[in-house]
Amino acid sequence: MRFDVFTLFPAIFDSPLKESILKRAIDAGLLEVYLHNIRDYTTDKHHITDDYPYGGGGGMVMKPEPVFAAVESVLQSANSQQPSALSTPPLTVPIILLTPQGRPFNQAVAWELSKFDRVAMLCGRYEGFDERIREQLVTDEISIGDYVLTGGELAALVILDAVIRLKPGVLGDPGGPLDDSHSTGLLEYPHYTRPPEFRGWKVPEVLLSGDHAKIERWRREQSLWRTVIRRPDLLQQTELSDSDRAILARLEDQQLDS
Ligand code: 6GU
Repeated sequence: MRFDVFTLFPAIFDSPLKESILKRAIDAGLLEVYLHNIRDYTTDKHHITDDYPYGGGGGMVMKPEPVFAAVESVLQSANSQQPSALSTPPLTVPIILLTPQGRPFNQAVAWELSKFDRVAMLCGRYEGFDERIREQLVTDEISIGDYVLTGGELAALVILDAVIRLKPGVLGDPGGPLDDSHSTGLLEYPHYTRPPEFRGWKVPEVLLSGDHAKIERWRREQSLWRTVIRRPDLLQQTELSDSDRAILARLEDQQLDS
């Protein structure tokens, strides 16, 4: 999968791409990240990328010319490709603006983006972008949460990380991302490893039992209980089986008792 990132601060991306899973994915040829400095696409002597807002008020606004020039020069061959006679779909590359006004990013959006072979992300700084960038250039706008960052770069890294780990071969365990918290609609069950007792704190007996059906049941219970207690909002959007409902009913009874 290829990411084209448009930013005024490409160096922000250096170290996160040099460690751990992202580095391994790059080394294995599963991930390509192309960083494009928007400033390189200015044509004026002072390489200006922002200007005062029309109508007055504080803050600076990112100018349209260098942003359009950067995105168009990098993506022209990709997004203007005609459908071929063999009716292969045209290669389309979503152009995502990172902005706190975008649609909320979540695991479902991560899966959606993981279906593309190539994604472009546009990182803003200053107070915002000239509105014509939103209206005429980008195809999607995404926010990573209800708070404001100083720029879109950290959001782009969050999205890149969440998306690339869903691609086959990027994680060691191929079933891994399907069991994740949020992929199942529930939070994940608790994990334990050796030693079986640490400072007097024991690993739950059931996990040492070797009874796989019992372990599965325990994990499902833990998953459901955890979600009820920490994120009841998630349960509204999750399909539950009859046995899930029975577990939840039992939990509610226990809470009434205590
Ligand atoms: Cl995508 N950008 C900025 N600047 N702030 C954010 C954000 C994005 N998502 C949440 N806050």
